[in-house]
Amino acid sequence: MSKKFAIKINKITKYFDEKLILDKVDFSLYFGEKVALIGPNGSGKSTLSKIILGEEKQDSGTIEVFKEFKISYLPQEFNKDILVERYLEMEKRVSDERRKIFELFDDFGFSEEILRSKISSLSGGEKTKIFLIKVTLENSDIIILDEPTNNLDSDGLDYLEKIINNSKSSFLIISHDRNFLDNTVSKIISLDGDFHSIKIYDGNYSSYIYQKEQSDERDERLYGENQRRKKKIEEEIKINQGKAFRKETGVKVNSDNDKLGNNLKKSNYALKASGALKNAKNKLKNFDELERVKNKRPLIIDFSEMKNSGVNVLKIENLILNFGFKEKINYEIFSGDRVLISGKNGSGKSTLIKTILDYKEYSEEIIWGSNIKLGYLPQNLNYGKDDEKFIDYFLEETGKNITEARKVLKRFGFFDEEVVSKINSLSPGMRARGKIALMLADNPNVLILDEPTNNLDLEVLEEFEKALKKYKGTIIFVSHDKYFIEKISPNKILEL
Ligand SMILES: Nc1ncnc2c1ncn2[C@@H]1O[C@H](COP(=O)(O)OP(=O)(O)OP(=O)(O)O)[C@@H](O)[C@H]1O
Ligand SMILES: [Mg+2]
Repeated sequence: MSKKFAIKINKITKYFDEKLILDKVDFSLYFGEKVALIGPNGSGKSTLSKIILGEEKQDSGTIEVFKEFKISYLPQEFNKDILVERYLEMEKRVSDERRKIFELFDDFGFSEEILRSKISSLSGGEKTKIFLIKVTLENSDIIILDEPTNNLDSDGLDYLEKIINNSKSSFLIISHDRNFLDNTVSKIISLDGDFHSIKIYDGNYSSYIYQKEQSDERDERLYGENQRRKKKIEEEIKINQGKAFRKETGVKVNSDNDKLGNNLKKSNYALKASGALKNAKNKLKNFDELERVKNKRPLIIDFSEMKNSGVNVLKIENLILNFGFKEKINYEIFSGDRVLISGKNGSGKSTLIKTILDYKEYSEEIIWGSNIKLGYLPQNLNYGKDDEKFIDYFLEETGKNITEARKVLKRFGFFDEEVVSKINSLSPGMRARGKIALMLADNPNVLILDEPTNNLDLEVLEEFEKALKKYKGTIIFVSHDKYFIEKISPNKILEL
């Protein structure tokens, strides 16, 4: 018996203006399946999920959803301008449901007051938790999650994993969180940003990596063989050209001699060519050359121009935060330290970061050392000037000239069209890459990273981690990504 599908996607093609995003994408999400959709930033993952939901229109292809299946959806940028109370539909909840909601509020450390907050005013992690509470009550047949682990603390993450693993619903999950994917999905759909098509891998993320390595090796081998076959045909042409030349002039030529080969091409000996020559030329004309499978969206980070700061980087004395953590903070950070700021959603991690950044001048509570060059990667991907072209913003902020800027941006995966795109039409991951490029433009020796792994695709993340591992400066960071934390291996933890 064939498996039943919850959603069937038939040859979906999508363009934005002239730009091809999805090329005849075809797959099914079966009953009760837990599937990940992964792919480079800007490859069209969110677009595909919006097409499934009917929020974006495809150019061709169809979507079938099983009977009257109900879909719940967590968008990548969850920003509703309504009160939590309304979002959770408190007015129509029966007492059992209300009890459940308040139990979950307790688990997440929310007070009842959160009901009167707007969704848009909550922290990233809080928003996701409110969504998870709603999903728990709704019991939908299909659940689509776009980057659900962004900003989520470990309590939230455990709860999310529990929901997925205990549920009979079908899940389509867009995520770059390796640990989370290993714990939840049994199939990976990988969207290729260059070919705009998908490949399907059975198993969790680790198994995908293994299969991908194998298939990359196979692709590379096939590409090599294909190139060798092409070379052979080209040689055959040269040899036969040489023969034609010799027949005509009586002069023997060496087919390896390129100069003569070029003269031959220009001459009209080819016109009097033998059948063998025509044959070889035809072979070349009809040759099916393989395109090389390579990552066209690199991340190349170069820290070689960084100048060291003094030994004392930052001293925090008796600092009291405006939000979250209530006790006085005393802390010292030295050059080369890797400090993880940890704490639950809402404990004030971002507030602490913003406070230390605001106190750049001398103050009693925040004392920065000498020769500090700060690079800051904010959690929020707003640029404030979303209608502006990305390149203009970059030039203004960094003072670089256009040639230099383009060179730098290429190393962050910004090619011609992305460089001149307006900020608001860049995908969140591309906006995050843009923020990293801005942060590093001035060779900082202290990096302050607030949830740096949010939205970055896996290949970029791995390059970023490799670079940070070698970084000689100081790193102060907030992260919920277990893999990332392990890679940076903090020597200090500031617990809020
Ligand atoms: N409304 C729009 N108008 C024009 N281009 C758009 C629009 N929405 C998305 N795009 C472009 O389509 C491409 C795919 O975007 P999408 O947000 O689906 O990518 P993604 O794979 O989800 O990326 P990320 O990993 O960063 O979330 C990007 O190049 C983006 O700039
Ligand atoms: Mg997206």
